[in-house]
Amino acid sequence: MKTYHKNCRFVILISGRGSNMQKIIESCIAEKWPATICAVISNDPSSKGLEWAKSRGIDSISLNHKDFHSRELFDQFLIDKIDEYTPDYVLLAGFMRVLTKGFVDHYNDMLINIHPSLLPSFPGLNTHSKAIEKGVLVHGCTIHFVNANLDDGPIIAQGCLPVLSSDNEDSLSEKVLGIEHKIYPLVVKWLSMGKISIDKSRKVSVEGEKRFIFVDR
Ligand code: GRF
Repeated sequence: MKTYHKNCRFVILISGRGSNMQKIIESCIAEKWPATICAVISNDPSSKGLEWAKSRGIDSISLNHKDFHSRELFDQFLIDKIDEYTPDYVLLAGFMRVLTKGFVDHYNDMLINIHPSLLPSFPGLNTHSKAIEKGVLVHGCTIHFVNANLDDGPIIAQGCLPVLSSDNEDSLSEKVLGIEHKIYPLVVKWLSMGKISIDKSRKVSVEGEKRFIFVDR
């Protein structure tokens, strides 16, 4: 387990609205975590979240993936940018790019993602419509360490809620996002306090914390 004698350093990657990133930053400031959000980087220059971070005085960087000839070149440039901040962790918060194995390996056990389903169910896109289509009774979100497979990797925490017969894709999306806004800041706080560890069999433990949220409605 990492123990910090200094502020834990985070870089956050986004692609759009950035509401999870905002919740993490607001909670970090309000709860005075031993943490610094060093920079927010977006692969989409029109990202609303980037404007928000800039307005809060956080280093906000736009790196348009369309300016690069290959995924590898973009990821290497991204690595170089991120590493200028010497982060302890890199947080994917709605970062809509598939990352190369080289990128994932470079940040071994430092790369965290939030995915809007209860993994391993529904990796990929359109998770809420898939949940409706399959008729699942419980749905939610997952925070996990990232490995080279899409929406895979050791699970840190999950948040869930019952799916009602009246739910549709939009209502589920809104409700799950509400849980994401609670659970991602919690996990980042635990990271900053050195409470999260991962063992040789790739299982995660979190010291003294309940690792799921269940919202009954
Ligand atoms: C969230 O639902 C997240 O789980 C998914 O993309 C969405 C991003 O939303 N990966 P925001 O940009 O944080 O508002």
